[in-house]
Amino acid sequence: METVLSGIRSTGNLHLGNYFGAVTNFVKMQHENKCFFFIADYHSLTTHPTPENLHANVRKVLSEYLACGMDPEVATIYIQSDVPEIPELYLLLNMNAYLGELERTTTFKEKIRKQPENVNAGLLTYPVLMAADIIIHKANKVPVGKDQEQNLEMARHFARRFNKVPGLDGTGKMGKSEGNGLYLVDDEKTLRKKVMSAVTDAGPTAPNSEPAEPIANLFSLMELVSAPDTIQFFKEKYANCEIRYGDMKKQLATDIW
Ligand code: TRP
Repeated sequence: METVLSGIRSTGNLHLGNYFGAVTNFVKMQHENKCFFFIADYHSLTTHPTPENLHANVRKVLSEYLACGMDPEVATIYIQSDVPEIPELYLLLNMNAYLGELERTTTFKEKIRKQPENVNAGLLTYPVLMAADIIIHKANKVPVGKDQEQNLEMARHFARRFNKVPGLDGTGKMGKSEGNGLYLVDDEKTLRKKVMSAVTDAGPTAPNSEPAEPIANLFSLMELVSAPDTIQFFKEKYANCEIRYGDMKKQLATDIW
């Protein structure tokens, strides 16, 4: 059975948009899937920071969920702030979310236009909290309105980034079970040997081409350990087809060490 997760912010009574955009789907999906539906009360604080009606608004959404036919006997219905693991995961995911991508989010730009007097950090990291909501259940279906599409895309990015430190054998991630790991306890000689033996290719044949996965992985490792001008240097070399992988790997090994 597939896991479904969705939620609505507790900012007042549900409207027709919530009903036809979300709740009717929730009701339909609840019998065929393992469903988790919640009330996003933390998210509501990004735009409704006043505590007076916080609890009342949560109760409003909950009672209207039930009135619309969402059934707590078949679906799990909960309040976001009742699950402390969600803010914990949010904290970890925040370390994988970059300022640039968060600032470019359409919903963020819209909200700062609407409330220029309250451009809070919660608004900026809204998509990260949303990613935590989804990832905590490893949900594979997330019914949302069109306006939330970009936020879902970002959740996908954060999850992939979290799971992927690439290995040196050209594909996928670094892992103990993959046997391709650089270990923290490796001595310098072992480390250098492993890095120098990393898989590469014959080199780019046309300027500005996209690197294949093994090369992209080397660049990903560089992003973790090397100075920006070093990364820039090798990226330019790659772009002009002048890259010498041996030099790049030597530098990478030094920077990892
Ligand atoms: N951002 C959603 C909205 O405004 C609400 C929401 C928060 C959500 N977290 C979520 C929806 C996780 C789906 C999954 O409509």
